[in-house]
Amino acid sequence: MPFSGKTAIVTGAASGIGQACAELLGRRNARVVLVDWNAEAGEQAAAHIRSLGLEAHYCRADVSQAREVEQAVEETLARYGRLDVLINNAAVQILGTLTETTQEQWERMQSVNLEGVFLCSRYAIPAMLRTGGGSIVNMSSALGLVGDPDLAAYGAFKGGIIALTKAMAIGYGPHGIRVNCICPGDVNTPMVQEFFAKAPDPERFRTEVASHYALRRIAEPAEIAEAAAFLASGAASFITGTALVVDGGLTSRCY
Ligand SMILES: NC(=O)c1ccc[n+]([C@@H]2O[C@H](COP(=O)([O-])OP(=O)(O)OC[C@H]3O[C@@H](n4cnc5c(N)ncnc54)[C@H](O)[C@@H]3O)[C@@H](O)[C@H]2O)c1
Repeated sequence: MPFSGKTAIVTGAASGIGQACAELLGRRNARVVLVDWNAEAGEQAAAHIRSLGLEAHYCRADVSQAREVEQAVEETLARYGRLDVLINNAAVQILGTLTETTQEQWERMQSVNLEGVFLCSRYAIPAMLRTGGGSIVNMSSALGLVGDPDLAAYGAFKGGIIALTKAMAIGYGPHGIRVNCICPGDVNTPMVQEFFAKAPDPERFRTEVASHYALRRIAEPAEIAEAAAFLASGAASFITGTALVVDGGLTSRCY
């Protein structure tokens, strides 16, 4: 099992892709710490993993708050004694063109989506260094690579994650830490379901979105979790600094 004896933190693990990552890492024998600011859903997600006979612990933290992130890492070390994997997945999405986006919305997305990655990594890396290294997987987006005018701020911070991933990979590679990111297209999670629900005809919009994909559908959370588990594992031992596009062909299209 790739994660036997290893401990993983997954942020935003109470829902969607993060929940799928936590379950998959647990199934592959990691001791998983589910970090999320939603205590009820976080406890439920951890309880579900434990119901499969696997090791999981929920820890409440807002990834944009340094003290809460520091405490989550301390709690992980106190419970499991080491930290090997960090999946920086928590994010919020606020729809809006550039001129529709308020400064408050910009700052909220920045603090969770980009600063959250910075803060979690800042506290996790020293813990990983104590045991000789580890692996970090940051959840970017296809919108970190290409533009969507209705998600201008969201895309800016997803692009920032790709740049941060590369800087972290170069900085900590010599110390045994690999850092990669994933750029998913649309994934069938509450975040995207909410996005579809805002359209005048959600079902028609969903079908139209799917038609842009080479595979004619959007992803399921488990498909993104497979990519994250691969990058986090020893099977990806020579992969660092990469932005792995997992988008069913969406960004391959020109016409
Ligand atoms: N769903 C998609 O189509 C899609 C596509 C590309 C990238 N992504 C990225 O994948 C990741 C997961 O998205 P999802 O669709 O599963 O979202 P989701 O909304 O289903 O889940 C996000 C989770 O993050 C938690 N969270 C939000 N802010 C937090 C904070 N400040 N501190 C701690 N927890 C917080 C939420 O409580 C929730 O449990 C995000 O980084 C998102 O940007 C999603």
